Formats: sequence, C-alpha cells, structure tokens
Amino acid sequence: MAKESIKIYHRLMKYVWPFWPAFVIAAIGNVICSSMDAYAVYFLKPLLDKGFVGRDAHFLSILPLIIIGIFLLRGIGNILSTYFTGYVSKKMVLILREQMFTHIMHLPAKFFDHSASARLLTKLTYNVDQIIQATGNTFTTLVQQSCFLAGLIAVMFITNWHLTLLIFLVLPFLVALVKYVSNRFRKLSRRIQSAVGDVMHIAEQSIIGYREVKIFGGEQQQIQQFDKSVEYNFIQEMKITLTDALNSPIIQIFCSIILAVVIYFAVDRSGGNIMSAGSFAALISAMLASFKPIRDLSQVNNNIQRGLAAAEGIFQLLDEPAEADTGQKIIQKAHGNIHLENVSFRYHADSAITLDNISLEIPAGKTVAFVGRSGAGKSSLVSLLLRFYTPTQGKILLDDIDMQEIKLCNLRSQFAMVSQHVTLFDDTILYNVAYGSSQNASEEDAIKALKTAHAWEFVQRLPQGIKTIVGENGFNLSGGQRQRIAIARAILKQAPILILDEATSALDNESERAIQSALQELRRNHTVLVIAHRLSTIENADLIVVMDQGKIIEQDTHAELLKQRGLYAQLHASASFS
Ligand SMILES: Nc1ncnc2c1ncn2[C@@H]1O[C@H](COP(=O)(O)OP(=O)(O)OP(=O)(O)O)[C@@H](O)[C@H]1O
Ligand SMILES: [Mg+2]
Repeated sequence: MAKESIKIYHRLMKYVWPFWPAFVIAAIGNVICSSMDAYAVYFLKPLLDKGFVGRDAHFLSILPLIIIGIFLLRGIGNILSTYFTGYVSKKMVLILREQMFTHIMHLPAKFFDHSASARLLTKLTYNVDQIIQATGNTFTTLVQQSCFLAGLIAVMFITNWHLTLLIFLVLPFLVALVKYVSNRFRKLSRRIQSAVGDVMHIAEQSIIGYREVKIFGGEQQQIQQFDKSVEYNFIQEMKITLTDALNSPIIQIFCSIILAVVIYFAVDRSGGNIMSAGSFAALISAMLASFKPIRDLSQVNNNIQRGLAAAEGIFQLLDEPAEADTGQKIIQKAHGNIHLENVSFRYHADSAITLDNISLEIPAGKTVAFVGRSGAGKSSLVSLLLRFYTPTQGKILLDDIDMQEIKLCNLRSQFAMVSQHVTLFDDTILYNVAYGSSQNASEEDAIKALKTAHAWEFVQRLPQGIKTIVGENGFNLSGGQRQRIAIARAILKQAPILILDEATSALDNESERAIQSALQELRRNHTVLVIAHRLSTIENADLIVVMDQGKIIEQDTHAELLKQRGLYAQLHASASFS
C-alpha cells in the first residue's frame, strides 16, 4: 500500500478499534465457520478410506452425528459472525454520520460559500455506505476465507506436502496482480465518488430551480448535463466491474494450471500407491475448494480500496478547520453599542476589497440605516458583525469588547436577523417562528410576534393556521409572507440587536408601512440596523449611513443628508421620480 493509503487506513482503524470485543466474537464465529468448512473437506479422507473402503463399523455409526455436528457448529459460527460484524458496521455508520454532521454544523461561512450542498450530502450518505461495506464484508471475508484457506492448505499438507509446495509457485504472480488491481480500483473509486457527487449536484440544482428551468426552457440543457454525468459514472462503474470480472478468472486460471500439474503427478505417483484414494480425493477437493477463498480474498482488496477512497473523502471533510472561536468572554445581555474601527475586508486574498477602512459608531438603542447601490458592501458589513467572516484589518467592538474576544455562540445570541435571502425550514409556521428563541417560547408568544410582523392575518386564514407546513424553504408561501414569518422569528428571539437586511423588500407599501410602525415599538429598547433600497422606509432612522464601493461616503440624518446634496440626495431623488 502506498504511504498515504496506510495513513488513511490507520485513521480508519481508530474508528474500528473501540469495537474490538465485537470483532473478537465475530472472528471466533468466522474461525468456527471456516474450520468446519475445511474439516468437511478433510472429512473425505476418513469417509472414503474408513467408511467406503475400510467399512469401519464404529466410524459408520458415528458418521451421522459428525455430519450434524459439523453443520451445527458452522451455523453457530455463522450467527456470531453475521450479528457482530453487522453491529460494528451499523454502529460505524452512526458514529461517522454523527461526527460528520456535527463537524459540518461547525464549519465557517467561507466553507459553505465554496461547497455544493449535494456534494456534502454524497459524502454523508454514499461515502459512509462505501466504508461500511468495506469494513463489514472485508472483515468477514478476511477472517473467514483466510482461515478456510489456511485449513485447506493444512489439509493439503497433511495429505501430500510435496505436491502442496507447488502452490507457492503462483504466489508472486498473485501479489503482482493484486497490487495492480488495487491501484486501479482506488483510482476508479475516487472518480466514481466525485461523479456521484456531480450527479446529485446537477439533480439538486435542477429540482430546486425547477421554475427557472421551465421559464427559460432549460429542460434539455439540464437533461443533457445530467445524462452526461450519469453516463460518466456508468463508464467508471463499468471499468471497475471489468477489472473485478477479470480479476477472479485470471487468478483461477493460474490456480487451475497448478491443479492440473498436481493431478498429473498425483495420478502418476498413486500408480505406485503413494496416496490412498481418500487422500487423493481430499487433496483434490481441498485444491478445488481453495479457488473460492483465493478469489474472495483477492476481491477483499478491491473492497478495501473502495473503502479507503471513501474514507479519504470523509477525512478531507473532517479535516476542514472548524469555525475559529478563541473568544472566552460572555455578555449577559448586550446594550447594543457597536463600534467599527478602521475595518477592511475582502472575501479572498486575491479578490477586490469589499469593505474599505470603515469606522463607525452605532450607539445602543438607536436605529441606523445603511443605504447604497447594490454591491456596495452593506450585507457584507452585517456578516462581519455576526462574525461569519473576520475583518482583514481593524476591529469591531460590541459594548467596548473586541468581538473576537466574545464567545461565538454568545455573540450571535445578541443578534436577531432577517436576512436578504430568507430561509424557512420545512416545518410548521410555529416551528419556524420559535426557531432559535432562547426561552421555550409558547404558542401565544409566537402569535404575538406574528401579529407584530403583520403575519397573523394571513396565518390565521391558512387551513391549519400556525400549524401549517411551509414547504421546503417556504415554497408554499408568497415572498412577502415568507419575509413576515422571518420578521416574526427575529422579533420573538428578543435579542438586543435587530438586523433587517431588505426585510420588507417583497411587501407592498401598505404592509411595509404597517410593519414599520409596529417596529417603532421595538426601536425603543433595541439597537436596530436596517438595510433598505426603498428609502422611504428609513427616513426616520436616527442615523443614515451611505455606502459606496465598500466605503462610507456620507452619514447623517435624512434631513441633513438631503441638504448635503450627495449620493443620498441623488438616490432619494431618483427614487422619488420612479
Ligand atoms: N460570499 C461571498 N464571497 C465572495 N464575494 C462576495 C460574497 N458575498 C458578497 N460578495 C461580494 O462583495 C461585494 C459586496 O456585496 P454585498 O452583498 O455586501 O453588497 P450589498 O451592498 O449587500 O448589495 P445588495 O444591495 O445588492 O444586497 C459584492 O461585490 C459581492 O460580489
Ligand atoms: Mg445585500
């Protein structure tokens, strides 16, 4: 095995190791099973020599008992092996999936920016299954078949060791073949795994984006993409199948050559009465019987290679650095004073600057609005406050504490947010509104929040009311309804700082105004950050911050900004005319 395979193998063994007692029991079962198989082959010798030729009365009388005994023991061995190997495999599925999912939940926003969800899901399902097949089946085959083979070799040696030595002539050939096949298997398995990921990815995109596909007539395009990807997968699978199919016959042809040579010599010598009929029958049967374990053992390696390729993908995911959280400080309930000090930020080292030397004071309990053209960096600024990303330069203070020093979950608990792209979970409205609320929010609290968000009127009219399932990502609701549910969720969280990023963009003017007036209430004891394109909604903010190309270019109240005749006045004028 290559160095890197050994590393992956060792790491995988760390998962398996805690189950050694189960493996020991399964191994005992396997050994019982295979020794009974080998013994059954050896049994031909006394059966022919003592039974059929010698007619030994005592032997004939216990013969039925021996036969039943062999199968009884074999059965017990089989049960032990199947049950305990199954237990370990299933437990490994559980452990790996739990560990992977926990890790995914702690990965930073940056990771999700670059990872397609379907590819992650493939790792969570397909890769884990591959590993389990590799560990479960491999273990059984390895122990059972190698014991069986050892037993058969013992039988051969007992009956005629000269001829048995011939077998070892094939060994170097077998080793070379196995080496070649394993390399090929791993290469193909890796390709298949990424191909399965691609298949899932294309399917997911097409299913989620079904509206766009239909509107833009993209059906053929999606079908072509999908077909190309499943066909590629098919070709790789067939390459593996061919390798697998060729593997066993080639090995068996070589074994049969040895067998032919052995029979040739054995028959020749038995002419000189060197071997009894029983020994000859046992030797030939043992040789014939050894075809299966040799074939199975040569395939074990292929399974291991598949498993290792799968493990490689899983370990890559587990090695992704989790979201950094060096912060120790805990704030009970923040006042909501936010101070940005020369904050600069870029998403990648080589990408253009997104936020350029921003300094800003957001006083506790005030409402601050951010306006500016699309792409100015408003949402990015908010992402920094929630520590989805770390500023490239400068620092952000919350109540005079550097945000980096605050424990991440504690920091985020200070914020409630309605983001620009609202996400709802495929559950009831109640579940969605109560999601993330610190105290166990009651249904009454949820209804109250829905009322404030002006969502209660429509929720009330739904057939199942607050218990209505919203569908995947709220597909069963209108855009404005989705936003209002998200506003209710943010209100119910009762966090000291409320962020509304285009939270009412999908609403009609009337509903928007109604929500604005309801939010007036919240403004009194919360710090509120509002991002809005519709400037009429933020006119009465305590402070309006105008951003352009990652910089703050103006900041003041509505009236003052209009007087300054800068970008704000310009934006305001164009909004009035439209
Ligand atoms: N996850 C991301 N990775 C890389 N670049 C990003 C990412 N998110 C945003 N950007 C880039 O950062 C810049 C600012 O984007 P941002 O979303 O902050 O703008 P915005 O002011 O909120 O615009 P809008 O009004 O359209 O919502 C854009 O040029 C955008 O391409
Ligand atoms: Mg935005």
